[in-house]
Amino acid sequence: LWVLNESGRIEGFDWSVGSDEYGLNKIVEKNGWIVVPEGTATNGTTYPDGNENPTVVIIRGGREGRNGFFFPGFIDTHIHASQYPNAGIFGSSTLLDWLKKYTFPMEKSFAEGENSDVAPPKAHTVYNRVISRTLSYGTTTAAYYATIHVPATCLLASLCQQRGQRAFIGRVCMDNPAFCPDDYQDASSDESIDAMQKVIDYVQHIDPKAKLVAPIVTPRFAPTCSHTALTGLGKLAASYTPPLHIQTHISENKNEVALVKELFPGSSYAQVYDDKGLLTPRTILAHAVYLSAEERALVKAREAKVSHCPASNSALGSGICPVRTLLDDGITVGLGTDVSGGYSPSILEATRQACLVSRLLSSQTPENNGRETLSVEEALYLATRGGAQVIDMADQIGGFEKGMLFDAQLIELGRGVGEGDDQDGLVDQGGEDAGGIDLFGWESWEEKIAKWVWSGDDRNVKAVWVGGRMVHKRANI
Ligand code: GUN
Ligand code: FE
Repeated sequence: LWVLNESGRIEGFDWSVGSDEYGLNKIVEKNGWIVVPEGTATNGTTYPDGNENPTVVIIRGGREGRNGFFFPGFIDTHIHASQYPNAGIFGSSTLLDWLKKYTFPMEKSFAEGENSDVAPPKAHTVYNRVISRTLSYGTTTAAYYATIHVPATCLLASLCQQRGQRAFIGRVCMDNPAFCPDDYQDASSDESIDAMQKVIDYVQHIDPKAKLVAPIVTPRFAPTCSHTALTGLGKLAASYTPPLHIQTHISENKNEVALVKELFPGSSYAQVYDDKGLLTPRTILAHAVYLSAEERALVKAREAKVSHCPASNSALGSGICPVRTLLDDGITVGLGTDVSGGYSPSILEATRQACLVSRLLSSQTPENNGRETLSVEEALYLATRGGAQVIDMADQIGGFEKGMLFDAQLIELGRGVGEGDDQDGLVDQGGEDAGGIDLFGWESWEEKIAKWVWSGDDRNVKAVWVGGRMVHKRANI
């Protein structure tokens, strides 16, 4: 059984209750996973093989015979909560048309109820849905973009707090009339800064110690922002101790890169942000598909982080992010769904797509002998520990070390042929709750995890905890 302290941090495991329904049976390891022979005690700081920071933590748990395990909660380093109703709707558009045709009109509709005393009704419905769906897919932390609307954005913060999801809350800055639609833009750069300040104050008011929710300064991307607003937002983030987190988009699509060259002549895309103090160790740069070697060196030098959004990059035809190159350059990478450029709110889907697009990239560069290919374990690392590094919380979440917050998901793959009581292997397959994974009983744990990544979904996520609080549970468990 997990032993948590009052603030939801891991103190250790109590092996005397190993067969409890939610307890530990044993810890299994191979290839960086952990092995603890059943019944061996550990205080949780150093694992028995002496490895303090294993790649992927698999801890057996769940109900007897269901191939269950605890896994660190997923971290979605880039998701637009306000775009959730559009998930799956993008036609054959690419980024810049997509923004104008689908995205800005949807975001604009969050103004509804802005000047009344009641919670903005659209935001209330949509944001509750997003939180429910992401939690059900095992996302325990999300870096959210909302809209330009202050009341709706503040509501997102309080819903995350009430529902118990760890979240960064970003109010998007859009004050450049040359790019933003007339009916969806900030009145001035002053308004951009004022509105951001209001959201920061609100979020810090409801959660002064940022135990669950924190503000994140969000210049949407260079084309939507004036020089004045970018400078002001950089200063605003730096004026706090510790400095506030920052998130934006960078180098996602070739037309966008060309547009930034036009709007900011003489600077690279990364320099535009750096000149305004927006490249910091707490900056999340989404996409980073087309960064030059000089830009990667600048990102690395500033210790800014990258959110890799493979489902979105494929859906909008943006391109394939060279993740291996980013990693080899020493840049920290996490995963993002980028709903609704991305069609799915699932980080397991992002993990799968990260593997797939990396294999396509390898196929385009046969001379590199598979260098670009990410393994399932590497992609799961990006989904958890990588994401934790991206948001500067690697000592708090992303793994199960002693003292970390218990942000976890209980996964069950289901019974396999010859496993459990029923022996027919079909009892737990095909039903509402099966999760679609056929196990035959001969798979190693690496293979079971591979099956999870390639064919699992929310039906396999039986329960989710954030800071030790259960925030999601499937009905029939
Ligand atoms: N660039 C600027 N805004 C957006 C957005 O909402 N989604 C994506 N994917 N890219 C963007
Ligand atoms: Fe995005």
